[in-house]
Order: sequence, then C-alpha cells, then structure tokens
Amino acid sequence: MKLKNLPWIPFAFFAIAIGLYPLVYYFTDMHGKGLWSSKTKELLENVVWHTAFYIHITFGGIALLTGWTQFSKNLRNRYLNTHRTIGKIYVGSVMLSSIAGFYIALFATGGIACTLGFGTLAVIWFYTIMRAYTSILKRDIKQHENWMIRNYALTFAAVTLRIYMPLLQFGVFHGDFLPGYRIISWLSWVPNLLIAELIIRKRVQTLVPSPVK
Ligand code: HEM
Repeated sequence: MKLKNLPWIPFAFFAIAIGLYPLVYYFTDMHGKGLWSSKTKELLENVVWHTAFYIHITFGGIALLTGWTQFSKNLRNRYLNTHRTIGKIYVGSVMLSSIAGFYIALFATGGIACTLGFGTLAVIWFYTIMRAYTSILKRDIKQHENWMIRNYALTFAAVTLRIYMPLLQFGVFHGDFLPGYRIISWLSWVPNLLIAELIIRKRVQTLVPSPVK
C-alpha cells in the first residue's frame, strides 16, 4: 500500500463502524437508553417522529457506508457503472435521511441550540447533495466532485459527533451531557465543511498550471 493511501484506513474504519451503529436501534430495545432516555413517552410513541427517526438513521447509515468508496479514483475509472449505481443509492439515502433529519431536529434534545445546529446541517446536507447531483446531470465533473466532497464532509458529521461527544462530556463538562451536546450540534459539522473547502482549494491549485515565468 502506498503511504499516501494510509489516511484511508481510519477514514473507512470510522465510516463503516458508525455506518453500522443504527443497527443497534433494530436489535436492542433502546427505550430508556442513550439518546432515547432524554425523550418523553409521548414523543417515542408518536408514529410520525418514530418513522422519521428510523428513516433518518437507516438511510444516514447507508450514506455513511457507501459514500467513502466513491472517492476512489481506481473504482471510478475501472467500474464506472458501479460508481453510478452506488452514487444513486448514496444520493437517494442522503435526500431521505436529511429530510427526516430536519424533522427530528425540531424535537432535538438540548432545545433551540440543537434544533438550529442539526436543522441547519440537514438543510445544507440536502442542498449540497442537490448541487452534486444536478452538476453531474450537466456533465460538470469538477463541480460534481467539489459538491460531493462538501456533502460527504457533512455526512461525516455523524462520525465527528461521536468522537467529540465523549471528549466534551467527560473531558470538559464532568459527565454533563447537555452542554456538550449543544456545542456538538454545530461543532460536528462546521469544521468538516471548512476542511472540505481547504481540500477543494488544494485540488484547484494542483489542477491549474502555474503561470510560466
Ligand atoms: C449529516 C446530517 C445529519 C443530520 C442533520 C442529523 C440529525 C440528527 C438529529 C436531529 C438527531 C436526533 C437528535 C436528538 O433528538 O437529540 C439524530 C440522531 C441520530 N442520527 Fe443523525 N444526523 C445526520 C447524519 C447522520 C448519519 C450520516 C447517520 C448514520 C449513522 C446518523 C445516525 C443517527 C443516529 C443513530 C441517531 C440517534 C442518536 C444516537 O443514538 O446517537 N445521522 N441525527
């Protein structure tokens, strides 16, 4: 394996590990556990919220599991049809998960700060996938790649959230969940988006030949 490919290992590991995490909600009774312990009985029994929650976590998981494979140049060059098929699954998953995510954000634990943080993320997640999809329909490959980098950086918020959360909760707030969760509803994705912009800039610089002196 080439040295430059090494960062792919943690990248793929976290995408797969967190992408599979929603299965917990299928195979264990989550009532009174984790995030659900902060929800009222009425909300947990609300059919619309319950359905939106499962749509969100199921398709969010699929997006996380499939998305990272799409950045491999090798796969794109050798198996273009596979790239297209996985791409369509990814786009559909992000659309469904973001719409459902926006709805459940209205009832987020942590109140208005989390509703705004996760709600804004859901809107930008949806917007960037639309831009990525419409640019490939216009055969604008560079813009398609750029919007997909932004979009997957947002999908990756599910990973960064779960890395930062214990650090804030136990490292900073002495076990208190809510203050960290309010910060995380923004911190999980704003830096990701900034890193995506840096990656895009770097790519533009390497694509544009430097002027001849
Ligand atoms: C990137 C856009 C995303 C947005 C806007 C978003 C939004 C939300 C919101 C609002 C909640 C409920 C929070 C609450 O009620 O306090 C939530 C929970 C959850 N989300 Fe997402 N999410 C996103 C990405 C993902 C992805 C990619 C996955 C895939 C693993 C995912 C999996 C989950 C799970 C499993 C929960 C339940 C909470 C837990 O047990 O940790 N989300 N999300």
